[in-house]
Amino acid sequence: MICIPITASTNDEAVEMIRHAEKQADILELRIDMVKNPDMRKLLKSTKKPKIVTNRKKSEGGLFEGSEEGRLAMLGEAISLGADYIDIELSSGTESIAELVRKKGKSCIIVSYHNLSETPDDLNGIYVKIIETGCDIVKIATFANDITDNIRLIEIAKKSRAEGKKIIAVCMGEKGEISRILYRVFGGFLTYASAEQGKESAPGQLTAGMMRSVYCADRLDEKTGIYGTVGRPAKYSRGIFLFNPTYQRLGLNNVQLRLEVDDLGKFMKEIKKINIRGFSVTTPYKEEVMQYLDELDEAAGLIGAVNTVVVRGGRLKGYNTDGMGAKLALKEKTSLAGKDVVIIGAGGAAKAIAFELSREKCRITILNRTIEKAKELAGRTGCRYGAIGKLAETGYDILINCTSVGMSPNDSETPVGKQFLKNIVMDIVYKPVETRLLREAREMGCETVDGISMLFYQALGQFELWTGMKAPEGMMREFLWKSL
Ligand code: ATR
Repeated sequence: MICIPITASTNDEAVEMIRHAEKQADILELRIDMVKNPDMRKLLKSTKKPKIVTNRKKSEGGLFEGSEEGRLAMLGEAISLGADYIDIELSSGTESIAELVRKKGKSCIIVSYHNLSETPDDLNGIYVKIIETGCDIVKIATFANDITDNIRLIEIAKKSRAEGKKIIAVCMGEKGEISRILYRVFGGFLTYASAEQGKESAPGQLTAGMMRSVYCADRLDEKTGIYGTVGRPAKYSRGIFLFNPTYQRLGLNNVQLRLEVDDLGKFMKEIKKINIRGFSVTTPYKEEVMQYLDELDEAAGLIGAVNTVVVRGGRLKGYNTDGMGAKLALKEKTSLAGKDVVIIGAGGAAKAIAFELSREKCRITILNRTIEKAKELAGRTGCRYGAIGKLAETGYDILINCTSVGMSPNDSETPVGKQFLKNIVMDIVYKPVETRLLREAREMGCETVDGISMLFYQALGQFELWTGMKAPEGMMREFLWKSL
């Protein structure tokens, strides 16, 4: 169930907010601590949807300012008014909780633990203490300082499911996103989502719209295949807007996440605890990830960088689809065998493209700011190399920018002078879609290939590696363009 907290500050505003929220919510949480002089009868009557009444105290992130007796009395009143669920903090003490459990009538009691600064080590101890109160539903909400905090909390949710106990397990903060999205996969009772941006009741809450339309969080289950983009930052990754709608339209029970990873070693140790089937790897982990894999595809091994990982039977295998993406994008415009290609840059992307195009029998020259790196790559791929300044005297059919020069917000930059542009010019930078390099190439009468084309083809490759299915090109092209 998706639960939208009602975070209004007056009764009238709360009723208004309920009217909007009930369209997207399965259940509503009335945060009466946030409402001035709350009229509980009116609020409870204003919707037929199930309701949780919460009167959160300040120390647990709420706004209630009166006495503890007054706070608990309001929860008692909510029971007598027929609230479906009552949320009471574990820190309220065993006696107060027991009192509420005794008089709960038809209401269900949620006993909640909040930690706004960390996800403590002894989550199991907290879980056991909550169970001992005799509550109906356990709630543990902790702050995630690292993505692996989600996995530790998810372990508790799994245990709770195995014991037949209802649990709400949520990691707060930006790094807690996956616990919120995957709640059903691990047996969570509900997840919280905000009515709209700015109306969150806790840090890191996604909007209900995002939960439903992008992630379909309310339809995931134990069998859902988990995929994602691992990076730092990963939070701007557009993959969620490309792969999720594709999975959904094809009826695949998969979800694509953003996996914001600070410490790759720590993350890789924990991932087998969740049903992860594959992930893409982005900056800065394309090389570092290799040490954690069980197997490498031959091309990825030669390139020395991995952008795609497939997990099968508990084994992790690394691939690189960057070079293939560039090759297919170029093939839309030209044949490749025998062509002279200049690659600007000698980083991870340049490596992948140099390897792929040399397999296509292109004659490649690598020009880089740092000449040693160009030399090293040229040595491994059998190419020529030089400094970027050498472009003036280098003939070519195809020029490819494999540096980040020209990427938004530095849109006014370009890696090479306009006067040197001819024939076919390709940029791997896709933000903006038409970089200064591509605009100037167009003005010089060149054919251009943008970074979106490469992104598209490398994503098709990822889809096929992950699912073993032929990628639906038309559909994925549509979603990719929509996501920009
Ligand atoms: P990626 O994995 O995305 O290819 P990378 O491995 O960091 O990223 O490589 C970045 C490439 O862009 C390198 O070739 C880098 O040149 P250096 O080897 O000299 O560092 C190049 N690059 C980045 N900024 C640049 C700039 N302002 N001018 C020229 N080249 C630049």
